Amino acid sequence: MKTTNRCTKIIFTVGPATDNEKILHSLIKNGVDICRLNMAHGNSEWASITIQKIKKVCNNANRQIAIMMDIKGPEIRTGEIEGVWELKKDELFNLYTQRYEHEQDSKPFQTRGVMVNYPKLINDVQVGQVILINNGLIQLKILEKNSNYLHCKVIVPGLLKSKCHINLPGIKIDLPSLTEKDKEVLLIAIQENIEFIALSFVREAQDIVELRSFLVEHNCKPKIIAKIEDQSGLINLTEIIKQSDAIMIARGDLGIECPYEKIPILQRDIINSCLAYGKPVIVATHMLESMVSAPIPTRAEVSDISNAVLQTVDCIMLSAETSVGLYPLECIDVMKKISHEIESSLPLSHNEKIELYLPKNKMLRSAVVLAQELGNAGIVVFTRTGKSAQLISSLRAIQCPIFAFTDNISIYKQMRILWGINPFLLAFLEDHNATIDHALEKLLKDKSMKQGSYAIILTNTIIDQKSIDTIQLRHLI
Ligand code: PGA
Ligand code: MN
Repeated sequence: MKTTNRCTKIIFTVGPATDNEKILHSLIKNGVDICRLNMAHGNSEWASITIQKIKKVCNNANRQIAIMMDIKGPEIRTGEIEGVWELKKDELFNLYTQRYEHEQDSKPFQTRGVMVNYPKLINDVQVGQVILINNGLIQLKILEKNSNYLHCKVIVPGLLKSKCHINLPGIKIDLPSLTEKDKEVLLIAIQENIEFIALSFVREAQDIVELRSFLVEHNCKPKIIAKIEDQSGLINLTEIIKQSDAIMIARGDLGIECPYEKIPILQRDIINSCLAYGKPVIVATHMLESMVSAPIPTRAEVSDISNAVLQTVDCIMLSAETSVGLYPLECIDVMKKISHEIESSLPLSHNEKIELYLPKNKMLRSAVVLAQELGNAGIVVFTRTGKSAQLISSLRAIQCPIFAFTDNISIYKQMRILWGINPFLLAFLEDHNATIDHALEKLLKDKSMKQGSYAIILTNTIIDQKSIDTIQLRHLI
């Protein structure tokens, strides 16, 4: 059996460092699974051009990867300022929620200040609370609330630029989950029929329901990924998992909205919940942050990636490392190397956390048990909707390759998110046996499976015009 199949999938974020055809080609050839477009930075025009470029390069490289559009969701930001301002310790500073005029109130002008794009800010905060700007690099304490501005003191000084992200830990902000800009960029995702939409700052299951109905209204059914990045998302995690197709542990914002020392435990708990519900899970942010400017990882980063692989997450993700970093290709190599090494050290086991109710799913689990008992075996699954592949993936059959065949290109690309799944595109014939023969020929030809090994095949067989779920055991000789 080919041992080079990687179970942990890699997502990279495309940006100025990688949005050219040459680098995209190398990344796609080098084994990335999903390309993420971070719409907190790009506009519709860039998205449209970039998606078309990725599709073109995939065709040239003869390897189809999936595309994820990550939309901004409810986010508070500072307004425009000229250049960069240095905010000094103990300096008084105002946050305005309305355009301010000199005549109205002279007090604001004795101090510097900036606009904030959230008019209800003043209602949601209390005097004494701390507001975090630019990932917590600047911190302001609220001294006074006024009708259209907050009077604050700088407690952690730093450099302020235009459109800095503001976090209000523990405060439920009253912004719609889908903004007008989100809807505008979603139209590009719909037009280009991409595979995944990730929604930022998902606070409750209803946010996912609304996004899904917007997409369905436009006759589009991408998979929806809920980014868990604040306390509301954590409180409502179970319901969010049930409504979403996958979860992203957005450790960047999560580590600001919650004390950072809690992140490892939150990561473990979110992964366990996803394993219990059989939903794919992504670990994101800072996995190789030092490689934005260095060609090799820190040992701490190696450990962080290893930990995620040991936890059997579906995907590990790169953000700044590939969007603006100097070493995007090296980052992929590092992730691949660590994944291979750690995956081959995992003890033979499968996911015991998942509760299965449907008889069909219990049958799929018995196929996993059989494959592991035999040892020299791979699972071959035929799936039109991707559901069986997702279930088998969620069973986390360690040391047991899974080959998933589909006749649908969207499902094929969507299976790239799934732990352990090697997707294949194949025409399904009337005659099931002929389809199976074609699949096995393909696996032997590309050395995915070896002569002498066992194929455990999950398929439907038609008997007396009835479709019967079947497990077949075939010795490849
Ligand atoms: P972002 O999300 O990169 O869109 O902010 C990920 C995170 O917060 O970790
Ligand atoms: Mn975020």
